[in-house]
Amino acid sequence: MTIQTVATKPFAGQRPGTSGLRKKVTEFQQPGYLENFVEAIFQTLGNLSGRTLVLGGDGRFFNRNAIQTILHMAAAHGVARMLVGRGGILSTPAVSCVIRKRAAFGGIVLSASHNPGGPDGDFGIKYNIENGGPAPEKITEAIFANTQAISSYRISDAPAVDLDDVKITTLEAMQVEVIDPVADYAELMGRLFDFDAIRALFARGFTMKFDGMSAVSGPYARAILEGMLGAPAGTVINGEPLEDFGGHHPDPNPVNAAELIALMSAPGAPDFGAASDGDADRNMIVGRSIAVTPSDSLAIIAANARVAPGYAAGIKGIARSMPTSRAADRVAEALGIDCFETPTGWKYFGNLMDAGLVTLCGEESYGTGSDHVREKDGLWAVLFWLNMLASTGKSVEQLVGEHWARFGRNYYSRHDYEAVDATAADAMMAALREKLPNLAGQALGGFRVAQADDFVYTDPVDKSIASRQGVRIIMTDGSRIVFRLSGTGTEGATIRVYLERYEADPSRHALDTQQALSGLVAIADGVSELHQRTGRQAPSVIT
Ligand code: G1P
Ligand code: ZN
Repeated sequence: MTIQTVATKPFAGQRPGTSGLRKKVTEFQQPGYLENFVEAIFQTLGNLSGRTLVLGGDGRFFNRNAIQTILHMAAAHGVARMLVGRGGILSTPAVSCVIRKRAAFGGIVLSASHNPGGPDGDFGIKYNIENGGPAPEKITEAIFANTQAISSYRISDAPAVDLDDVKITTLEAMQVEVIDPVADYAELMGRLFDFDAIRALFARGFTMKFDGMSAVSGPYARAILEGMLGAPAGTVINGEPLEDFGGHHPDPNPVNAAELIALMSAPGAPDFGAASDGDADRNMIVGRSIAVTPSDSLAIIAANARVAPGYAAGIKGIARSMPTSRAADRVAEALGIDCFETPTGWKYFGNLMDAGLVTLCGEESYGTGSDHVREKDGLWAVLFWLNMLASTGKSVEQLVGEHWARFGRNYYSRHDYEAVDATAADAMMAALREKLPNLAGQALGGFRVAQADDFVYTDPVDKSIASRQGVRIIMTDGSRIVFRLSGTGTEGATIRVYLERYEADPSRHALDTQQALSGLVAIADGVSELHQRTGRQAPSVIT
């Protein structure tokens, strides 16, 4: 068995996005394509002798092939040890957990998150650093530069490594340790949450459905909910990870998880419902006839955090992405802690957590998490809710209703226009930006504009600046309209319109969300001319 040097071509301008390189499986299957990116990672990391790396993915189509390629390239680059999830499986939060717990140098995550899988679906790869979080821009830019300059890659020609048993083998001089994908993660959850209280809750007959969406959270949910916490068998539905996610879109929101939503509204509905996405970092929380918005979920977790043993000493601060509703800000104010507003994308939370400025983080896009790892964490959020339900004895509906009564309700919705003509979307954003200076002070449909700008973020830790992070129109009553173009969409452009209206009066907390926001929707359309410019009359997805 020897190390081969294989000639290859550089990528032509394929800049990876904020979540690493995400492309169609068919692109990844081209000879040398995955290898180019992996070589670029190893070249960026430099000398890896004595280093340990973690490797795993969400089990989607091409996962096993990619794992073998990466192992054989790691061996050729002198990596001392690779920790690989059994069967090549590790959820994104589990990779983060294992990197931290085992003090690894970093890790490679294989996933295209919530994007569909299968031979015609998407695949993805990203590098995480030693804090367990996604590599910062400095590193991703260096990787990108290397992909543009590569002329060859190095790989071992040894036979495939058996990954289906927990054991230690070698590949060239490299040690390959196949680990139980769930164990480290489950142990961490057991330290953060009151498993005894949750076990007692299930023992009292509490019922729950967790929708694994045929993706990677299934094995974790089964082991923890049904195994450790004694939830009845069948609590986890769609719990078997499939290479094509059963043809479903593994993105938990009321549209994609319609089966769960229907179940939670039917007679005899379980007490609690939850779902997670392709790589198990997103979450959706559902009560009887109520889907909790991710923005509310973050605020409610923050307000009740002390019930969980891992957060009993209180939380240091909260961070939310700019388009996420300001529900958490009100909790932070009541707790006397800081609430940071960051650009969209989990990577912006890393510095704040590393610096000890925040404990909890959240995004409106079904992402919630804390400083226990450096990725958002779907099952963690579900366990936090279970801990709150167990400790308070209240239902989801009660917790939400009481929260609104105390803090007021932030009506919130996101309207997505997918696969829009990219030129039309860019022109719409450019026209909006031009209008911004004239908007402040204007009266619009019963509201008055207090502030209109394009969000600029200065990182409080390293002082780096991120500009053009979303056009926001903020009204004098705190209502907001935000426009952004998606950075993760794969077809044309995706326009996201975020709408928020604050309502303090408890007698007005039971309105229909879209109804409550209809005035802002009309203003958003008027100001952006979205419908004329894109030819779209209605959003593709409303969450
Ligand atoms: C979307 C979400 C964002 C999230 C990202 C990665 O990005 O909106 O909150 O961090 O996916 O999961 P977008 O497509 O809006 O750029
Ligand atoms: Zn994900």
